[in-house]
Amino acid sequence: MASCRRLLCWLLFSLLGSLGYYKTYGITVYSDNKRVTAREFEGAYLSCKHNVKKEIGARIEWKMIKGSTVSFVYLNGVFVGNFKGRAEILHSSIHLKNVTRKDSAKYRCEISAPTEQGQGTGEVEISLVVLVPPSAPVCEVPISALSGTVVELRCKESEGVPASKYRWYRNGAILPENTFFWSFRKEKISYTLNTTTGTLLFNPVSKNDTGEYYCEAHNQVGRPKRCPVKRMQVDDLNVSAIIASVVIVVLIMASCGLGVYYAQKKGYFSKRNSSMNNSSKYRVTESEKDFKHTKSFII
Ligand SMILES: *[C@@H]1O[C@H](CO)[C@@H](O)[C@H](O)[C@H]1NC(C)=O
Ligand SMILES: *[C@@H]1O[C@H](CO)[C@@H](O)[C@H](O)[C@H]1NC(C)=O
Ligand SMILES: *[C@@H]1O[C@H](CO)[C@@H](O)[C@H](O)[C@H]1NC(C)=O
Repeated sequence: MASCRRLLCWLLFSLLGSLGYYKTYGITVYSDNKRVTAREFEGAYLSCKHNVKKEIGARIEWKMIKGSTVSFVYLNGVFVGNFKGRAEILHSSIHLKNVTRKDSAKYRCEISAPTEQGQGTGEVEISLVVLVPPSAPVCEVPISALSGTVVELRCKESEGVPASKYRWYRNGAILPENTFFWSFRKEKISYTLNTTTGTLLFNPVSKNDTGEYYCEAHNQVGRPKRCPVKRMQVDDLNVSAIIASVVIVVLIMASCGLGVYYAQKKGYFSKRNSSMNNSSKYRVTESEKDFKHTKSFII
């Protein structure tokens, strides 16, 4: 009867031991949530639990790991550095009362306590991502463009966590993405929209794309933000205007040439050599500039 009871006790203890209830030789540290997200200026709870019994007393340390920099958060029973006064310890877990984007990091909870095999330690790592709403994006929209050319509109903001996605609007209406369903519709999409990079590509741009454009950055955290409206004017290549400007340039050049010719004939060059040279040089560069200007315009 006594031996039977002893056997039962032994069975019970080994069962509890295998479940981890009766271990004093190993320290187990774990977390209810190893990937914590919290909105900026709100609270965050970093859970850290362990199996060290109260009577033994666990030594608790928290560290923050940012890239290759490790700094103390909680040490010798107090919060240190910029965590002083804005965090509290709850058993071995911590509650940050007001997180900012600078708190995004990995946090390590380290527990040490005496065990049968000497000092034992255990640790768990928790990542904290502080969610930040988008800032107002900066948009690049050309004021004017020539139809038939390639035009890219850009939109970017860099505060949002997670990274913002982008939407473009023309004349107040959203520009739809080129989805499978849209491809069945009558009006074809004449642009390439990249919602990740924020670029809106017209290849080529047409007169129809003239309008008032703005872009919106959104990331599900807080309200979407938009940039100021900008107008893009797309015009056809105006052939008669180009011909007219070429004719004007040719006329200017011809009259310059005539002027120099008559000046030479009247003998200005021999009398006021240096001053005349200067002014004729000036004239040539002026008309050259004009010419280059027109050339680039044609191209
Ligand atoms: C949280 O911190 C920010 C800046 O550190 C401060 O402006 C804000 O008032 C704080 N909010 C609360 C509720 O303490
Ligand atoms: C958007 O741009 C990124 C980076 O250039 C690229 O990896 C991605 O495939 C593009 N997405 C679309 C839909 O074109
Ligand atoms: C594009 O131009 C055509 C006529 O040239 C017009 O019928 C059509 O409505 C325009 N489309 C848009 C989106 O403005």
